[in-house]
Amino acid sequence: MLIREFLFLALRTVHVISGVFWVGAAFVITGFVKPTARRLQGEGQRFFQALLVQNRLRRWIMIAAWTAVLSGVVLYGRDWRSGWLVTRSGAALMVGGLAAIAALAIGMCVLRVTADRMAALGKEIQNTNGSPSEAQRQQMNALQQKMDRAGRVEAALFIVVLIGMAVGA
Ligand code: HEM
Repeated sequence: MLIREFLFLALRTVHVISGVFWVGAAFVITGFVKPTARRLQGEGQRFFQALLVQNRLRRWIMIAAWTAVLSGVVLYGRDWRSGWLVTRSGAALMVGGLAAIAALAIGMCVLRVTADRMAALGKEIQNTNGSPSEAQRQQMNALQQKMDRAGRVEAALFIVVLIGMAVGA
């Protein structure tokens, strides 16, 4: 009994820490780092690429995201009982959890893939004397806009997650 209680507390702690890291990092990057890097243009863009593509930060965000979602699913399974879904707690955690899973899917399928394509294009530009052709510039702008849109959708989903967790837990 004591061990079960301890394991639950440990899992809940891991869930909260990983979730806070994931959401916090995403908000800071989308809301502050990215706009500042864009304002600084060349140097700023290089810094942003280095931070997200070459740096370990991206890997840590992915680890935190998977940890938050998997631990959340286990916690949900533990709390689950018949009729729970129609209670405030069960419904709020379900909505919040689904929003988190959608945010993870966007992170994996859109943000990660687009960041990889931006990195490849950046390398291509570096290899051809560092100044992009018109086609490369347009391609980079399109990728950046896609990242922005996906980042905004992810941020909106995170608001739903946080409200769901606050109301339901
Ligand atoms: C961005 C991702 C997430 C964040 C930031 C997050 C955050 C939190 C926080 C802060 C709590 C504790 C709330 C409190 O004690 O007042 C919590 C609890 C909980 N979360 Fe999440 N969560 C996330 C994803 C998920 C997912 C994907 C699921 C499952 C589908 C989930 C299911 C739960 C459950 C069931 C609890 C209650 C545990 C209990 O006390 O029995 N969470 N979450």
